[in-house]
Amino acid sequence: MTVTEQHTPIEVRKIPFEFPDDIEPVWNPGHHEWSHMINGASLTMPYLEPFLIATLREAAGEIEDPDVLEEIAGFCSQEGQHFRTHRRYNEILKANGYPMLADVEDALKAGYQRMRDRRSLTYRLAYSAGFESMTMGVTAWLVNDRRKLFGGSDTRVASFALWHMVEEVEHKRVAFDAYQAAGGPYWQRALGVLTGSAHVFWWARKGCIAMLKHDGRWRNPRSRIRLWMRTGAFFVAVVPGALRTALPGHDPRREDDPEWVRDWIAGYATADPDFVPRLDTDHPDIPVPFDTDHPGSAA
Ligand SMILES: [Fe+2]
Ligand SMILES: [Fe+2]
Repeated sequence: MTVTEQHTPIEVRKIPFEFPDDIEPVWNPGHHEWSHMINGASLTMPYLEPFLIATLREAAGEIEDPDVLEEIAGFCSQEGQHFRTHRRYNEILKANGYPMLADVEDALKAGYQRMRDRRSLTYRLAYSAGFESMTMGVTAWLVNDRRKLFGGSDTRVASFALWHMVEEVEHKRVAFDAYQAAGGPYWQRALGVLTGSAHVFWWARKGCIAMLKHDGRWRNPRSRIRLWMRTGAFFVAVVPGALRTALPGHDPRREDDPEWVRDWIAGYATADPDFVPRLDTDHPDIPVPFDTDHPGSAA
């Protein structure tokens, strides 16, 4: 299947999410460890996503297909919105009790700079395509289990986290297309699913552990069991799909998008540009936050 046959534009949404000072880093009461797992992932984004952008922009210099080049431009704009929003959220984490996260950020910055300096473009593209493939499983997990994972949580954090995942689905094909257009070998793309996923997971874990240590929970057996349980749920939900994306013949276009994601995208298209799509995390179903009869207002 060519890119042209399923060419849909990637929309860049500049949503004014707000992170006022009263946001609690444990944004999901009763799910302390899970809150920090998401916080740890958020911490990586202002370093990972600029790396992805730089890699795809560099690849664009070697790609001639105009559709892939257009996709890359949309991808870079979406990822740019993501990491800037995460950076603002991460500042709140540091200001509201976790200043030591700056040390993890310093290490992340140095780590991604080393990758840029030492790794070939093909390696970095494979890492990017692999990580982006893995996120499809993460999105399906977060969306399909949203009641358990986000129910009763701070909507300002839940809404921004799920917006990010919606757009990951929207641009799921781009890093793969860039890798294919750049002519990288199959085996390296397959390996990239492992290296990209494991590397980001390892960094996210570092941030999570730093926060749990600060809270005095890292050596607490009950806390550790809760962390293992949620980490295990992550692996069960994500690993089979990630392995499937590593198979020969994988095409992101054939991966099903969750219905909730499709509804979110369709709903946002009816909303005013400055509308902030806040989820009702107390609703038993956490529906998409749009009322298509009254564009621009919450459902
Ligand atoms: Fe992103
Ligand atoms: Fe992405």
